[in-house]
Amino acid sequence: MIQLKQVKNMCMSPVVKWAGGKRQILEKLKANMPEQFNNYFEPFIGGGALLFDLAPKHATINDVNQELLAIYTCLKDDELYKLMLDELDKHENNHSEEYYYEVREWDRNPRFELEPLWKRAARAIYLNKSCFNGLYRVNAKGYFNVPSAKKEKVVTYSKENMEEIHEYFRTDNVTILSGDFVEATRNAREGDFVYFDPPYDTWEDKESFTAYSKFDFNKDDQRRLAQCFIDLTNRGVKCMLSNHNTAFINELYEGFNIHVIQAKRMINANASGRGAVEEVIITNY
Ligand SMILES: C[S@@+](CC[C@H](N)C(=O)[O-])C[C@H]1O[C@@H](n2cnc3c(N)ncnc32)[C@H](O)[C@@H]1O
Repeated sequence: MIQLKQVKNMCMSPVVKWAGGKRQILEKLKANMPEQFNNYFEPFIGGGALLFDLAPKHATINDVNQELLAIYTCLKDDELYKLMLDELDKHENNHSEEYYYEVREWDRNPRFELEPLWKRAARAIYLNKSCFNGLYRVNAKGYFNVPSAKKEKVVTYSKENMEEIHEYFRTDNVTILSGDFVEATRNAREGDFVYFDPPYDTWEDKESFTAYSKFDFNKDDQRRLAQCFIDLTNRGVKCMLSNHNTAFINELYEGFNIHVIQAKRMINANASGRGAVEEVIITNY
């Protein structure tokens, strides 16, 4: 497969494990990508499995999750990057069951939102690496509420991977946004490529994970997304979208190419939501 503007010899992987992470279906996604494109857009970046695998030279990434925004902003900025790594080392050295819960409590303080980005970013990575199942989950108030995995020792990052990502973000044209997906695709032009990996549509009879932030992603959001997909199609933008293989999603994207694939659900607090599930990869080309 030939991709335009891809950065060669990069071997990066996500710095956080994310519910809905796409590492296990990467090959299927890549097999369904367009052969060529100009700029890359990923409006629901999460852990960024596809972005890091592709390393496109001109990318716009976006997510509403503020902790993710803090992480990606720190990965781009020289000074914030160093401060974040120092803070991660501090967390590793201090790690204990008690320390985990102490750090987890920080977001209950109303002043937490005023904390520097590097501190928020390092906290998010540390909690992600030391919590049960590596799951990012918040309650209705937006407080991180996953219990500890009870690990004796925690390794929060690979220096080599962090350095590569920092280099990639710093020297290449990666734009980081934090808003709604519609706004994040506003600058997509003919010949660009957008990969949408939204929170999954839910089956009525199965538990699904949707608690990425205190904002719910409901059926109306899925409808708004389908409209955005149609608008981009009319502008000549190549789009690919993944979701569960539900009747609702099939209805919304009727007329586009819908490829059904088998995937394994890795992260779910409830065992009934784990196991094999059917997903779809939808393309407009
Ligand atoms: C399925 S996850 C993405 C997983 C990612 N592709 C990976 O490989 O880790 C969906 C993401 O959408 C984000 N999100 C939810 N609502 C959003 C919105 N309205 N606009 C942009 N991002 C949103 C969530 O915070 C979450 O990170």
